[in-house]
Amino acid sequence: MLKSPKKAAQSLMTWYHENKRDLPFRGIDNPYFTWVSEIMLQQTQVDTAVPYFNRFIERFQTVCDLARADQAEVLKYWEGLGYYRRAKHLHESAQRICDEMDGVFPSDLKTIESLKGVGRYIARAIHSIAFNQPSAAVDGNVLRVITRLTGYDEDVMKPAHARVIEGVAQSMIEHATPKDFTQALMELGATVCQKSPKCEQCPMQSMCVAYQENRQAELPVMIKKTKKTEKHYHVFVVLNAGHAFLIKRPENGLLANLYTFPQYEGSLDAAIHAFESDVAARVKDTESLFELDHVFSHQIWHLTVHRVHLTDDSMIPFVSLTNFPYAIAKAHLKIIDQIKEI
Ligand code: ADE
Ligand code: SF4
Repeated sequence: MLKSPKKAAQSLMTWYHENKRDLPFRGIDNPYFTWVSEIMLQQTQVDTAVPYFNRFIERFQTVCDLARADQAEVLKYWEGLGYYRRAKHLHESAQRICDEMDGVFPSDLKTIESLKGVGRYIARAIHSIAFNQPSAAVDGNVLRVITRLTGYDEDVMKPAHARVIEGVAQSMIEHATPKDFTQALMELGATVCQKSPKCEQCPMQSMCVAYQENRQAELPVMIKKTKKTEKHYHVFVVLNAGHAFLIKRPENGLLANLYTFPQYEGSLDAAIHAFESDVAARVKDTESLFELDHVFSHQIWHLTVHRVHLTDDSMIPFVSLTNFPYAIAKAHLKIIDQIKEI
């Protein structure tokens, strides 16, 4: 597949030492920090994740600091990052490490992978980056680099095909310092071999099949099976002197335990009816403000946002939006941003 894994690895490492970004989770030998950073980076761009990472480890400096915190506080530190299940699993796994492993992060690949929220990729990323062990880790960045480098055009959404790519990365990591190699491959994918690649900057251009055959745009092949479910909601914004009415979502399912404005499916009339019954108050009038879409991994929300006045809001538990202590769902943070402009 790859003529000289050794030569490829060496070119990549030279490039990395000259071009790597200075990121807060690089060059610190602390598996807990590596774990937190990889969980954040799994679905979030580096630039977005960095300030979250810095705040998070400043507040939760050790695994046991995280384990002892309330879930609500952990979620607040995650607010706006999305995919909140990541934070819940991180918290649960921190409790396991603190209680059952004396607070020592496990160094064995199987044990790392047994942590909730840690899959094959993150386990191998931690094993290589934090423990300097030769376990190649394949994320979206690495998939792009290796499929193009080798011209591999099978559907890499299939685990068996992704495993082929991991095998190529594995043949390279054995010729490099593992902790740097894993980050180098991700770094090349993140900064050079992007969706639209900057091949003129690439240290492996001379050995790249996609470059030679001009097939960069076709690779990697990723066939998505699941079509996202489309959901339409009416969102009701009740305001009172800079304060708003928010509700907590159920403790299971999408956005579990996060706060939102009340939202309902169905016709506007039915939504108003359900809302009146939930708040035990009558709606005086509604004013349609704007529409907003929010995309999740398996759903798309189409939100129609209404300002609502109640005939009597004296029983409504209004809260401040500026220093609300719990985490608000990102879709609704967007609503708050837009309301501020109105
Ligand atoms: N994406 C995921 N992990 C990363 C890392 N360690 N460096 C750069 N990009 C990444
Ligand atoms: Fe990616 Fe271009 Fe480098 Fe090939 S030459 S690995 S397509 S950046």
